Amino acid sequence: MGTPLIGVSKSILKIKELINHVANTCLNVLITGETGVGKEVVAQSLYAESARSSKNFVKINCAALPETLLESELYGYEKGAFTGAHRKRPGKFQTADKGVLFLDEIGDMPMALQSKMLHVLQSGEFSPLGSDQEFKTDVWVIAATNHNLEESIYKKTFREDLFYRLNIIKIDIPPLRERKEDIPSLIEYYFRLYKSEYPENNGSKPDSDILAKLINYQWPGNVRQLQNCIKKQMILNSWEKIFEELPREHHEVSPHGQINGKINETLPLTMSEFPTDRTSIISEFVDLSTSSDKLFEDISLKKIKKLASDRVEKEVITFVLEKVGWNRSRAAKILKISYKTLLYKMNEFEVFPPVK
Ligand SMILES: Nc1ncnc2c1ncn2[C@@H]1O[C@H](COP(=O)(O)OP(=O)(O)OP(=O)(O)O)[C@@H](O)[C@H]1O
Ligand SMILES: [Mg+2]
Repeated sequence: MGTPLIGVSKSILKIKELINHVANTCLNVLITGETGVGKEVVAQSLYAESARSSKNFVKINCAALPETLLESELYGYEKGAFTGAHRKRPGKFQTADKGVLFLDEIGDMPMALQSKMLHVLQSGEFSPLGSDQEFKTDVWVIAATNHNLEESIYKKTFREDLFYRLNIIKIDIPPLRERKEDIPSLIEYYFRLYKSEYPENNGSKPDSDILAKLINYQWPGNVRQLQNCIKKQMILNSWEKIFEELPREHHEVSPHGQINGKINETLPLTMSEFPTDRTSIISEFVDLSTSSDKLFEDISLKKIKKLASDRVEKEVITFVLEKVGWNRSRAAKILKISYKTLLYKMNEFEVFPPVK
């Protein structure tokens, strides 16, 4: 039995629903999310819910192996296929037959292997290294990555056609800081688990003050980091100590100058001291080093809205134009605006093709 997918947040409930829907479809799934959010837990849940659960769940980490080794691990090899291949060996595609092949860290797969993978996924056939024979494969491919693959496609480090093959069902797991409702149930689950594993340890559960701090924390390492804290607590039995050891810059500060649940008299002097994404957006339009009461003196919400929407429009237009090699009629079609409007906007936002 794998780890159950714990969580009560809307996003986790939605993911659970999706898992139930797709478990028996065998449609390729791409799971995305930051490190430690639970991509592997979701992959295991898909497998456990499916009719394939009586067969193998085979995982391969595409980031951990050099290209040639990854290739032989995936497809296997014949005796004598390369120096050192003293006997024939089956690859993951074979061991996963009728089961699940979990391609972890797919964003790190070398380009050359991406073409081969695409071919196998399209044809349902593969051939081991050193063999001319094609073998049929029946695997359910679930892939995961913490890269933004759209960006990798743009940078030409990931094949667009392979992306579409893998991304038939997309499951994006939000970071823990965006689903704080899950924190208490995760603590409860792991606390019980470790207590039953190590009954001699006497770590206590967090009281309401500590719990509030834990909920407020940003968890850059997501569930894995929270899990490690609980493990540590079982041994140290000091939440204060554990909390102190968490990297400071991720302790959330609320706009009322509260830090870790306590009022902090010295905060905030200026808004630039809020380490949140919100301020990074605002800082594009106002100078955050100005004192709070004068911050919006020279600008209205309406003006900010206009500036922000112009900026987004400019970014999108430039992005699409670059993608289509500056073919303006194609770009206009993609953006669903007239050719004339596009020219007007390009002029307004000063978007020009690069000088050759
Ligand atoms: N929703 C959850 N319920 C229970 N345990 C979870 C959940 N999400 C993550 N975990 C636990 O947190 C740890 C990290 O999860 P997992 O390995 O699935 O993350 P990941 O997204 O694959 O991370 P990485 O990108 O670093 O490989 C695991 O020990 C896992 O059991
Ligand atoms: Mg993982």
